[in-house]
Amino acid sequence: MVLFRAGAGVIPKSFIQDLLNRLDIVDVIERYVPLKKAGANYVACCPFHNEKSPSFTVSQSKQFYHCFGCGAHGTAIGFVMEHMGSGFVEAVEDLAQSIGLEVPREESNTPQQKVAPDLYELMQTATRYYREQLKNNPRAIDYLKGRGLSGEVAARFGIGYSPDDWQPLKAAVPNYQDASLVETGMVIEGEGGKRYDRFRDRIMFPIVNVRGQIIGFGGRVLDKGEPKYLNSPETKLFEKGHELYGLYQAQKAIRAQQRVVVVEGYMDVVALAQHGVEYAVATLGTATTPFHVQKLMRLCDQLVFCFDGDRAGQKAAWRALENALPQLQDGKRIGFLFLPEEHDPDSYIRQFGTEAFEHELDDSLTLSGYLLRELAAEVDLTTQEGKSALVKNAQPLLTAITAPTTALLLRKEVAALAGLEQAELEALWSIKPVAASKRPAPQKAKRNAPSELRHMLRCLLMKPELARELPLDWSSESAEGAAIAALTDWLHEGADEVSTAALIQHFQDTAHESVFASVRGDVMQLGDDYDIDSDFAGLLRKIRKAEIESEMALLLAKGLSGMSPAERERHAELNEALQQLKAEVS
Ligand code: UTP
Ligand code: MN
Repeated sequence: MVLFRAGAGVIPKSFIQDLLNRLDIVDVIERYVPLKKAGANYVACCPFHNEKSPSFTVSQSKQFYHCFGCGAHGTAIGFVMEHMGSGFVEAVEDLAQSIGLEVPREESNTPQQKVAPDLYELMQTATRYYREQLKNNPRAIDYLKGRGLSGEVAARFGIGYSPDDWQPLKAAVPNYQDASLVETGMVIEGEGGKRYDRFRDRIMFPIVNVRGQIIGFGGRVLDKGEPKYLNSPETKLFEKGHELYGLYQAQKAIRAQQRVVVVEGYMDVVALAQHGVEYAVATLGTATTPFHVQKLMRLCDQLVFCFDGDRAGQKAAWRALENALPQLQDGKRIGFLFLPEEHDPDSYIRQFGTEAFEHELDDSLTLSGYLLRELAAEVDLTTQEGKSALVKNAQPLLTAITAPTTALLLRKEVAALAGLEQAELEALWSIKPVAASKRPAPQKAKRNAPSELRHMLRCLLMKPELARELPLDWSSESAEGAAIAALTDWLHEGADEVSTAALIQHFQDTAHESVFASVRGDVMQLGDDYDIDSDFAGLLRKIRKAEIESEMALLLAKGLSGMSPAERERHAELNEALQQLKAEVS
């Protein structure tokens, strides 16, 4: 695997869109995976997970792929990155070459570059420098050797060493005064503008995003010292709640094994990889967020949280459970592995070996088992008070679960523990019994989001430039609304070639990715004869009509006599607009 070559900023964004417009994703994928025509699309057995019948689908008209089985998706660029395990820049270079294009580079002496040299480039320069320094520092090498790491694994994770000096990076960058050094958190500016490196005399662990770009570092002291780990602060490049250490290196193994293990520490990930467990990732000194869980569940069917055996580990596990509840999916398994108190995954696998560790993973406690165990342990189930406390404590947790079967089975268990009938428990929590409504309970996210929003997203994914017709101040509390707002911002910033593929590429690895992903399957299934423009126009009218009606209803609630003259005028205006809308439809 070639690591750390990415530096997306140097390639102009317009070129990426141009490239996507000129490539044919069907040709690109066919180089690696034979495709079969099926209706408007092409299909194959998914190269990213094991399957017998094809659910990997490629849309030629929309230039993206989507697997209905594992959720893998992306553009031609994304496909090459995933399939070859290459970085963004590399994939772009390969693809450009395949159709005889030269990848342009923004020249380093353009005025824009002088003000803000590419931040990713800087991180890459720092990584290269730290790795070089490691080679020259026997003390650091001995430390890593002492922890059982091979040179190969150190290279896989790009591990390096920052020298014991105030301004080590001065030797690596052309201008130590450049703003980018502070912007990336690599350099700290003290009183009077005096600058010094954040990381000094530390083992350096680069934090890499799924595109292979370096976005931050963790630095460990070699001997005793505080803090043990120093991390990059949150910057433009690095959002801790979204990133997972080691995911870039692990993604292939995660797909192949259909399993991911989430651990607490940098060294845990590295040590597990050293012992052949390549599907481990770590949170970055923060709690596991719902975003983390969602990201990982898209990659595979089984997620095991493996936290240290100490009290902090227990607390972290419970936090992870709480944040995983809304993301649960029936049929996917979330497990919890609690190691003996004196161990973390690193020490465990070194002492007991790979097989023993994987055996523990297989035997991990299920999420439901862990949840019930903790709930039952908090109260005294031999008393009425205890039982009623159980029901009370369980309510917020169980109602956060949107996976219908999992939620139902847990309600049964909690009811049994409390000595209630399931129906009694559901009545207490105002949950409608499943039998009454024949359909499965809708997912919470969908219940909160009016179907118009999803319809809108579908239209926008088909034809992103339709967002130009939306008001600029589009805003909403919901994830869908936020994604639409981000899209309109992007268009107004001047994105010109706005194909579906360009949209997918632009939002890949952002917070909005999953929102667009949720309608990708729908779009894939629409026929090519579908009339998007009239569908969208109809949708806009429907939304406008609903807005007018709700404003009118608010005014009317005051009664005609309760309205001010201005309000009465507004009501008449709205009424006129409403009549006009109705006339347009008929
Ligand atoms: P641990 O102290 O369990 O780390 O902290 P570890 O990986 O087992 O460390 P070694 O084995 O002593 O090298 C777990 C994680 O918490 C964060 C880091 O992300 C670390 O990997 N952490 C810990 C910090 O950010 N700062 C600290 O001072 C300590
Ligand atoms: Mn450790």
